[in-house]
Amino acid sequence: MAITVAVSNQKGGVGKTTTALHLAVAAALAGRRVLLIDLDSQANATTALGVEEATIDRPGSYLALLNSEQVRPDWARATDIPGLSVLASSLEMAGIELELAEQSDRLRRLRPVIATMGETFDWIFLDCPPSLGILSVNALVAADTVLIPVPPEQFALDGMERLTSTITRLNEGGQTRITTPSILITMAQSWSPEKLKRANRIRQTHGEEVLTAEIPHSNAVGQASGERRPVFMSRPKADASDAYMRAAAQLILRHETGSDAQPEDIEPLVEQMRAGLQPLGGPQTRPDPSEDLHHRRRRRHRRHDHGDGPRIYRSRRRLRHAAGTVVLIIGALLITFMLLGAL
Ligand SMILES: Nc1ncnc2c1ncn2[C@@H]1O[C@H](COP(=O)(O)OP(=O)(O)O)[C@@H](O)[C@H]1O
Ligand SMILES: [Mg+2]
Repeated sequence: MAITVAVSNQKGGVGKTTTALHLAVAAALAGRRVLLIDLDSQANATTALGVEEATIDRPGSYLALLNSEQVRPDWARATDIPGLSVLASSLEMAGIELELAEQSDRLRRLRPVIATMGETFDWIFLDCPPSLGILSVNALVAADTVLIPVPPEQFALDGMERLTSTITRLNEGGQTRITTPSILITMAQSWSPEKLKRANRIRQTHGEEVLTAEIPHSNAVGQASGERRPVFMSRPKADASDAYMRAAAQLILRHETGSDAQPEDIEPLVEQMRAGLQPLGGPQTRPDPSEDLHHRRRRRHRRHDHGDGPRIYRSRRRLRHAAGTVVLIIGALLITFMLLGAL
């Protein structure tokens, strides 16, 4: 039976979809059979995997929730990534909360879907919408665990607190089996003292619930989502690629072995993910041991040139160039005036 993870935070823009997508891809690269259930009407996770939005002929998560007893495993659509399928979403999903509002089992619609799909997959990831409405509660009720993406921003922390108190309430009513959540710090910015302080506070308050890997705020992720591709495929060497693989490895080991993973357990799984990327056209993802320091430095510079790094550094560089040019022009004018004065 599959291990089901609800990727949830009631706030929008915290990295839920990006996280659900990358954890699902990473788990598939590690050889697991994975299903991503897209519960968001924006269907971003669906299209990022190259799958078209669901329709009447090709049903997805919307029809699965409305007709949960009729769901068949072949509703899950295979992607180009071996082992990874998606239960596609579509715009109709935006109205489903109203459609289910009168149903007595409205909070338990996803359970039979997971039961059917769980036979053919090892892991199921649920990409939740940005609210704590019927859909997100369905995900919490059906899931074995929850993963909360949290950028080090106050608004996202508020969203996390509200979600954890909802889980506690559902637990008290015996409606979920979630015991401890996993928390993933997303969009981390180590050059911002304020964000660093908040990230540290999350770790102090929530201890081992917080996954060791932190997803950096990375232009590579933004670009990949613009190209509708996982960052593993578009920029396998970006720091964010590595961080998502490490987060996935820790989550997999936490739930497959039932105990928290040691750093030495994580590395082989990350290696397996990198190896899984090779046949998909990913370039060599490990640094070549023969590569000298000079080449590695040059590669790092090239990476910054391509925009994987804090934009602020690039704008400071431009400012320095502009200031240099102004100083040169003023110097040239001064010399010209002095020469004219001397004549
Ligand atoms: N680590 C990251 N670095 C930079 N941009 C990111 C990162 N994670 C997500 N984003 C961008 O932030 C936006 C919101 O992310 P998304 O995953 O859709 O959030 P949610 O599903 O919580 O609304 C998207 O444009 C996405 O590309
Ligand atoms: Mg989303």
